[in-house]
Amino acid sequence: MTVDRCTWVRDAIRLLEADANRSADTHLHVFPLPLEWGVDLYLKDESVHPTGSLKHRLARSLILYGLVNGRIVEGTTLVEASSGSTAVSEAYFARMLGLDFVTVVPRATSPEKIELIEFYGGRCHYVDVPGEMYAEAERLAAESGGHYLDQFTYAERATDWRGNNNIAESVFDQLSAERFPVPSWIVVGAGTGGTSATFGRYVRYRRHPTRVAVVDPENSAFYEAWRTGRSDVATGIPSRIEGIGRPRVEPSFVPGVIDEVLPIPDAASFAAIRLLRERTLHWAGGSTGTNLVGAFQLIARMVAAGQQGSVVTLICDGGARYAHTYHDDAWVAAQGHDIGQHRERMDRFLETGAWS
Ligand SMILES: Cc1ncc(COP(=O)(O)O)c(C=O)c1O
Repeated sequence: MTVDRCTWVRDAIRLLEADANRSADTHLHVFPLPLEWGVDLYLKDESVHPTGSLKHRLARSLILYGLVNGRIVEGTTLVEASSGSTAVSEAYFARMLGLDFVTVVPRATSPEKIELIEFYGGRCHYVDVPGEMYAEAERLAAESGGHYLDQFTYAERATDWRGNNNIAESVFDQLSAERFPVPSWIVVGAGTGGTSATFGRYVRYRRHPTRVAVVDPENSAFYEAWRTGRSDVATGIPSRIEGIGRPRVEPSFVPGVIDEVLPIPDAASFAAIRLLRERTLHWAGGSTGTNLVGAFQLIARMVAAGQQGSVVTLICDGGARYAHTYHDDAWVAAQGHDIGQHRERMDRFLETGAWS
């Protein structure tokens, strides 16, 4: 190996470390619940990362993983199959390292997402059939001699589940001065499955009694896969909640560390992000709504059982990206979603603690 290459890789790792060093940790907000319930709800705000979502952590880990494995060197083109938050964050880090970045996206991807990827210097390569994204990304990487980052395969491997300031360690540190410092539940969605795998492994590694619940939107394969233990479940239908829910079971989904999977109607997710904004001023994306509905259900169960404790969930990304979709009442209605009944149920829950 030439000295130059080693030097380039060492410097690239220094740049990634420097980015982490410049970034403050993301906040842990309190969602207001009646004190007498004896249950506290916290929101880990991943939308404040420099690239606006929880994927900032994953993108940094995936690129670091490629660097330390000798797969990324000076001039390597980085390739991904993602129309979402991951591609936005990967484009940011590729630009930081002076590398070309191309992501394979479905032609129907929102203009806001395309703009963000291109803002960070990324290039979008379109496919008509979403299911063809993976093979097309493999082909592009082979053709260009590039490196396919492949979030769905490597998310669970590239993230250090023991700590190293991963999202789980950060949450437990930030809860340490609270009245219930060890949460009863952590509630997250699954896209790659990397986030739930990190939390599930971390709580087992640290021997915490905390349980992990995954919320699953409509059309996703995860609930059925977890319920049946089968990894060949496929719905063939894309999720309507960006970032979570998959038409197939992804390699980074680790059902063995998930204690419960909760199917959540998409209309409930859209109702929840409106409630969140009204009650806390936090403006979030659809997957945060899905998280909140799941957290409410588990809190109602704790209240009914007279169990005290804390519950943690995530604000995954900001609402601005969905101003013309999830946060647009006309768009939601045009998609056939009736959010009224779900909103009523959540308002009643916040009054009574019961989830009818
Ligand atoms: C907005 C959003 N929420 C949640 C997730 C789920 O995270 P993970 O891929 O770690 O399962 C993603 C993943 O892409 C996402 O973009």
